[in-house]
Amino acid sequence: MLWPLVCLFFLPLTRSQSIHSSLSLNAPLSLSGNNFSSTPLLFSLPSSSQLTVSIALCTSPSNTPPRVFVSNSSDSQVTPGPNGGPDVFEVILGSLGLGNLTLDAGDTTGVLAVYGGTTSDSLEIGVSQGAPLHAPLAKLPFFGDSTANEALLFSPPFFPPAPPPEPTYPNYTLPLANTTLPPFPPPSESASSPNFTLFLAPLDAGLASLPQTACAVRTRVKGDASAAQSAQVLAEQMWLRDDAGWRREWLVGRLSPLTNYSVYAIQDSTRLSGPIYFTTKSASFSCQLVHALPYCPRTAYAVPLPEPPDSAPAYNASNLPDTLATPLLAYLSNFTASLLTVACGRDHYSPLQTCADCQEAYRHWLCAVSLPRCGEFPSSTQQPQQPPPQQQVLLPALLPQPSGTAPRNAVLGNSTSYTALLPCIETCNAADRACPIFLGFRCPSGDKPTAQSSYGVGYIDSMDGDVRGGGVPGAAQDRWGNVYCNGN
Ligand SMILES: *[C@@H]1O[C@H](CO)[C@@H](O)[C@H](O)[C@H]1NC(C)=O
Ligand SMILES: *[C@@H]1O[C@H](CO)[C@@H](O)[C@H](O)[C@H]1NC(C)=O
Ligand SMILES: *[C@@H]1O[C@H](CO)[C@@H](O)[C@H](O)[C@H]1NC(C)=O
Ligand SMILES: *[C@@H]1O[C@H](CO)[C@@H](O)[C@H](O)[C@H]1NC(C)=O
Ligand SMILES: *[C@@H]1O[C@H](CO)[C@@H](O)[C@H](O)[C@H]1NC(C)=O
Ligand SMILES: *[C@@H]1O[C@H](CO)[C@@H](O)[C@H](O)[C@H]1NC(C)=O
Ligand SMILES: *[C@@H]1O[C@H](CO)[C@@H](O)[C@H](O)[C@H]1NC(C)=O
Ligand SMILES: *[C@@H]1O[C@H](CO)[C@@H](O)[C@H](O)[C@H]1NC(C)=O
Ligand SMILES: *[C@@H]1O[C@H](CO)[C@@H](O)[C@H](O)[C@H]1NC(C)=O
Ligand SMILES: *[C@@H]1O[C@H](CO)[C@@H](O)[C@H](O)[C@H]1NC(C)=O
Repeated sequence: MLWPLVCLFFLPLTRSQSIHSSLSLNAPLSLSGNNFSSTPLLFSLPSSSQLTVSIALCTSPSNTPPRVFVSNSSDSQVTPGPNGGPDVFEVILGSLGLGNLTLDAGDTTGVLAVYGGTTSDSLEIGVSQGAPLHAPLAKLPFFGDSTANEALLFSPPFFPPAPPPEPTYPNYTLPLANTTLPPFPPPSESASSPNFTLFLAPLDAGLASLPQTACAVRTRVKGDASAAQSAQVLAEQMWLRDDAGWRREWLVGRLSPLTNYSVYAIQDSTRLSGPIYFTTKSASFSCQLVHALPYCPRTAYAVPLPEPPDSAPAYNASNLPDTLATPLLAYLSNFTASLLTVACGRDHYSPLQTCADCQEAYRHWLCAVSLPRCGEFPSSTQQPQQPPPQQQVLLPALLPQPSGTAPRNAVLGNSTSYTALLPCIETCNAADRACPIFLGFRCPSGDKPTAQSSYGVGYIDSMDGDVRGGGVPGAAQDRWGNVYCNGN
């Protein structure tokens, strides 16, 4: 009974006898542990004039990591390998643990060979006709906000919306105050929509030190109880928060207070976006997340409200108190009615702005001031090391609101104390710029103390508002989890 085994072992390596199986387009193949052997594993490739092979390491590489060679030689006896030869290429792994190579296998049967690899190695191989199957995404996930144990997170954007048709005079109609989101998927998109999955873990799970590949992040988060902790997606949906496009939105629960999390979004199982970081608030943080309001599409943050009714995890359009929603929509309706007294679409009050731009900018500003955002001063436990002496620490636009002070929105009452994260002044300036002067919408001058007690000034644009993007850091928030002002 030993004979056939011995026979196999001593056979010279020729392609026809040792091809393991074939690789199919867009169907990634995983190899790990016992799959690797001392003899190369051979796979046949589909034939295509433009065939892209991509590989992704799924664990940190061992001392003898797997190496992948491909050949499109017409000589059926050629085994691709380290000794090279005509039409033999190695797929080189880059620093992220990703590699790709495009070859022409139109007239021949391409062969892929995997050499080396140990039981601790793990690899994914993909073949595609366009971009590499493991191509990382350039766009990042987006952090909405967090409480002590919940967070609102968004996938990178896709399917940017077509600009709405410009209404025309005399039938100049604007969206209703209580507007609805357009349909998803947009009728103009025939392509199937990308499928995003969220992965997050506390910093000490070490996701950032893994190969930055989808399979590595997924394996670590799924396989490590401490990495995944108990984080759980409580609700998800498609959301159009801005012109960048649709995103998948996740409401995540069961997080730990005062913990820095790294966040990745994985598209279609193979493409990685991230990381971004965010930190949960302290256990005493008492504001509640508000999101998914079609009339305030960018609102996804903590607002000084009592716990939502019926143990709901957050507020959305279905349970936001009418005492908040009704006046907000009434202000917007009244503003729109005044705006429409201009002969919109006929008498141009600006060469750049339209009534529709004005209504949209006013909507964002109104949402930002009607639904104040809570923040939290960094606690001493979060800053173990002193910052280097020369380095200025940029503080967010936080303003304590002790109980008994006049609330920005009278409906919220004045009985609870919280720390407000002020709206970025650019939200106000955008409405000021976009709206006709007769409406009387004005913003305080950024260099005045009155402006700085109501708005975050100097973060996005320069202090005097002259230089667009000239502020420090030039944005309302960054990928490291620092949020400077409410950029609603
Ligand atoms: C890799 O090993 C697993 C389990 O040992 C097996 O199910 C799978 O078919 C192997 N894959 C290949 C490509 O040999
Ligand atoms: C193999 O692919 C390379 C790269 O696309 C190409 O230059 C070469 O002509 C191909 N060889 C054959 C035999 O098709
Ligand atoms: C493909 O590999 C090349 C290096 O061989 C690299 O420069 C490029 O960024 C990779 N492309 C993608 C989409 O990963
Ligand atoms: C005005 O435009 C709206 C929407 O664009 C349309 O539904 C309506 O029929 C139009 N009314 C007239 C009188 O043209
Ligand atoms: C999206 O991806 C998830 C996880 O990979 C999978 O369970 C789900 O079936 C996919 N959905 C679609 C529509 O492909
Ligand atoms: C709004 O929240 C309620 C309570 O959690 C939930 O049942 C409902 O599905 C949510 N609606 C949307 C559109 O998210
Ligand atoms: C907004 O419109 C929806 C129906 O489109 C309705 O269910 C909801 O009550 C309205 N919201 C307010 C605050 O009027
Ligand atoms: C909206 O306009 C109506 C009629 O002019 C007025 O009665 C109402 O108080 C206004 N509401 C708001 C919130 O300004
Ligand atoms: C705060 O609320 C208390 C009790 O309702 C009231 O007496 C007080 O005038 C309010 N203060 C302000 C500034 O609105
Ligand atoms: C979270 O951790 C990252 C990575 O170490 C770090 O760069 C970032 O500053 C931290 N964020 C906060 C808000 O502490």
